Amino acid sequence: MAIANQIVKDDRVPTGIVGLDRLTEGGFEKGSAVLVAAGGGSGKSILATQFLAEGIKHSETGIYISFEENKDRFYKHMLVFGWDLKAFEEQGRFIFLKYSPERIAKIVKEKSKEIENSIKEVEAKRIVIDSLSAYTALFDTEAEKRRMLVALFDMIKEWECTTVVVAEEDQHPDQHHSSVMGFMADAIILLYNEREPRGLRYRAIEVFKMRGTKHDSKICSMKITDHGIEVYPDTVVL
Ligand SMILES: Nc1ncnc2c1ncn2[C@@H]1O[C@H](COP(=O)(O)OP(=O)(O)OP(=O)(O)O)[C@@H](O)[C@H]1O
Ligand SMILES: [Mg+2]
Repeated sequence: MAIANQIVKDDRVPTGIVGLDRLTEGGFEKGSAVLVAAGGGSGKSILATQFLAEGIKHSETGIYISFEENKDRFYKHMLVFGWDLKAFEEQGRFIFLKYSPERIAKIVKEKSKEIENSIKEVEAKRIVIDSLSAYTALFDTEAEKRRMLVALFDMIKEWECTTVVVAEEDQHPDQHHSSVMGFMADAIILLYNEREPRGLRYRAIEVFKMRGTKHDSKICSMKITDHGIEVYPDTVVL
């Protein structure tokens, strides 16, 4: 298979963002945990939903686990991009699970199979967790945060789905590789919403890490359009 003359590896899960798939040999590695990290309003939830919508288009059930979003408002915001989550839900192809961070922490601590059972029941292939920040905020010490993140990622790996984990990050993106999230994740995608010297804002995306993938490590231009995220792999911004 090929995207615009590029080789696509056969272990890939296409994201629905053609430009991004061109940077990663065809998409995310099947069964991997992909961290999407950026500040507020940078397109993390849109990217995550686009990834699920692409799966749904190919008969793969998707599950969105949200710690914060109000379901109706979330559905309304995503409908703008043509993703009718309410209809997908009614057709049994999409599930929105609203969890409090405390409940997830309890599930992780008790090694409960609650989420895994829901996944197996609908044979979901793609999962989103949005976002980790509320979860890590529950724990007081760095050691506890670290231990609970490792336990959460261990649980995610047992699901055997391709999973996008959203993280709100204000710290400098280069610090991700040394953080616990950075090494637990199989891949890290960073989104940027930057201001250039003349004062104009621009969006960009970087595949910072992707295990098992010969990925491009450039920072490419990205736009949020009425159809979702578009990535321009030939337009390097930094
Ligand atoms: N139709 C649209 N066209 C272009 N840009 C849009 C459109 N709808 C939303 N946006 C942009 O997308 C941003 C929201 O994207 P998204 O919800 O994915 O961000 P996020 O990174 O998840 O933010 P947060 O951390 O606050 O949850 C808005 O702030 C706006 O800039
Ligand atoms: Mg969001």
